[in-house]
Amino acid sequence: MKLPPLYRIRAQLRRTILREWLVAYRFRGVTERDVLFTSFPKSGTTWLSFMLSDLIWSAGDRQEITDPRFMPGVGQQHLGECRLPNGGWLLRTHERYRPVCQKAIYVVRDGRDVAASMYFHVKRATGMEADFSEFLQPYLTGYFTGPGSWHDHVLGWLDSPCFARGDGLLVRYEDMKENVERELQRCAEFLQIETTLERIQRAAKAGSFETMQKTEQRSQLIPHREKGEPIPFVRKGITGDWQNHFSERDLKRFEAVAWPAMERLGYADSNAADAMGSESAGPSRSERTTLSAPPRQEARSQ
Ligand code: A3P
Repeated sequence: MKLPPLYRIRAQLRRTILREWLVAYRFRGVTERDVLFTSFPKSGTTWLSFMLSDLIWSAGDRQEITDPRFMPGVGQQHLGECRLPNGGWLLRTHERYRPVCQKAIYVVRDGRDVAASMYFHVKRATGMEADFSEFLQPYLTGYFTGPGSWHDHVLGWLDSPCFARGDGLLVRYEDMKENVERELQRCAEFLQIETTLERIQRAAKAGSFETMQKTEQRSQLIPHREKGEPIPFVRKGITGDWQNHFSERDLKRFEAVAWPAMERLGYADSNAADAMGSESAGPSRSERTTLSAPPRQEARSQ
């Protein structure tokens, strides 16, 4: 697969102990009052963080598409201006679970849609010319992402002491698509933020696909510009896009490694059903039963 030499070097470096040290260094400032806002990349992180910044801090039009003033990354607390009512930070990260984490919101999305979304991100970032099948094999080993593979990331967080204690909140992209206000209410309760229906509705509106796309287009803060091109966080925003890219063989390769995570999250029976019921084809998600079935109890303990 043709990738720029610089990108290859970075991919190699990601697998060395140097990265572990760097991540540990960034996490050294995390305290027990902080809540980690965590996800595997391409799971809808930007969407939910945008809405939460509006809900909690009335960020409104002031916020950029990713804005460290409201939700700094781990290690970027010096850029943050807004804290939670308990004095802690709401800190963004894509890292795997680390024991310092006491409380976390974990945003998750069907791993197949994550793979499709990541494909377009890498293509744009690197100018990669590979087709989806060619991309999938290294992707499944975690080649393109700092925190490793999607399935290890998901299971690492769900099996963490943080979730076992009931201090983890799982928010699914598909559930946000189905009823975003309900998911914002769950987040507010988890964070012990007093709110009103009106504020929730306002935050949901602020995070609509169209509004976020406009915000991104006028944004000065588009973080990845390796090829000089802006890389949108707001791209297509649908469920089931994987069907437009996975061949049967790709699906088998994906399932061979990621099925336990898919099953755990309640995505497991959605294979055939998704082909019928995603936004890209057929009836709406709310008409389906497979993906609205709750995942394992501890994963949705809040
Ligand atoms: P697609 O590439 O499938 O369109 P992250 O922020 O974790 O990188 O996730 C990016 C994904 O979230 C992209 O998915 C993007 O389009 C989607 N997304 C961003 N804003 C959204 C919104 N307001 N509504 C629905 N999906 C959104």
